[in-house]
Amino acid sequence: MAAVLVIHGPNLNLLGQREPAVYGTTTLPQIDAGLRQLGSGLGVTVECMQSNHEGDIIDAIQAARGRYGAIVLNPGAFTHYSLAIRDAIASVAPLPVVEVHLSNTHRREEFRRHSVVAGVAAGTIAGFGAESYSLGLRAAVGLMTTSIGNEG
Ligand code: DQA
Repeated sequence: MAAVLVIHGPNLNLLGQREPAVYGTTTLPQIDAGLRQLGSGLGVTVECMQSNHEGDIIDAIQAARGRYGAIVLNPGAFTHYSLAIRDAIASVAPLPVVEVHLSNTHRREEFRRHSVVAGVAAGTIAGFGAESYSLGLRAAVGLMTTSIGNEG
């Protein structure tokens, strides 16, 4: 079965407790369980990981080539400055990467309005809380039909 890798970046392990007015009360395990369930309905295996470390996220992106048909990535604050994560995404092209954010970063502080990742992502979904991930997974599965890793 085709597979999608979901990568959660720094501080997202604290979802549920972290600034709930901004990020909601859904915990990361709840999000991951929902994505696995949605994935099985869409015919894909969903694997999820979270890291607070830039290098771990880069390693995961690099290792995804040939193993996953798409990545759903919330880079957290790395979104706004990690050229190394941007380069990792570009390095695994044409593996599609869907950038997701719980919050609407365009409505927040100035420094959150720019994503260095967006220019190499297949697309970006932001502002729908935990639902951003579900929308991102649906988009990722749609993109898999035209990408590597869709052997069936
Ligand atoms: C975030 C937005 C980022 O600006 C922030 O640093 C995060 C979470 C989001 O999902 O809304 O950690 O990526």
